[in-house]
Amino acid sequence: MNTRKVIVSQAAVEEAAKHFVKTANEAMEKSGAFYVALSGGSTPKALFKLLSTNAWKDKIDWTKVWLFWSDERCVPPTDPDSNYKMAMDAGFSTLNIPQDQIIRPMGEHEDPKTAAALYTRKIQELVPDMRFDLVMLGMGEDGHTASLFPGTDGLEVVETAVIANYIPQKECWRLSFTFALINHARQVVLYVLGAGKSSVVTEVFSNESSYPVARVGTADQPSLWFLDKESAKGINVNSRH
Ligand code: 6PG
Repeated sequence: MNTRKVIVSQAAVEEAAKHFVKTANEAMEKSGAFYVALSGGSTPKALFKLLSTNAWKDKIDWTKVWLFWSDERCVPPTDPDSNYKMAMDAGFSTLNIPQDQIIRPMGEHEDPKTAAALYTRKIQELVPDMRFDLVMLGMGEDGHTASLFPGTDGLEVVETAVIANYIPQKECWRLSFTFALINHARQVVLYVLGAGKSSVVTEVFSNESSYPVARVGTADQPSLWFLDKESAKGINVNSRH
């Protein structure tokens, strides 16, 4: 069952930027808007920086973009750990995205479960059919994605879109899309670079994996993985999964 497609490139960030631009423009052509959920992580950060450069930023009509986040730390938007802050500081604050189209999870809320419920409601209100044009994800070396970490309660939640997930490994709460919301998207893309990720990538692509990230993608909506030769060194890139 093909639930994954893969692009291996030493220019993975540029390839990812081309894909982002193509996906955005196709969505705008079709519906007049582009609903995207950004991710935290080092590769998404590099992608945001590139998309914000003069060479790239005019390839998209940012006034038609609706920004969300596929996960967020339970911190204020000014905190260095905030994924919202990371994206804005990487350059997204310079793009002409209307402020009321930047839908930030309320990581600062005193009750993470209330913050998750409020974000679910925002997505219900603003995203047609709650179906994102693009959900962006990274992957940790423990096989987590978004804030769906191994052994956490959030892995089993299917009846809602956004959850507050307690992460014992980090002794903190996180806000995260569930697999249900992630796999409901038109496209899900994972940005996974570097040798440190290769063992998890190898296991996931063996289709014998219990890592959370292995649950991203379906036969109807295969996920797309941007890898480099280091993270892809253990897989046969000609094999599609
Ligand atoms: C987060 C991210 C998380 C991230 C991975 C990979 O909030 O930290 O959403 O899921 O994507 O940890 O991060 P790196 O790409 O920096 O390894």
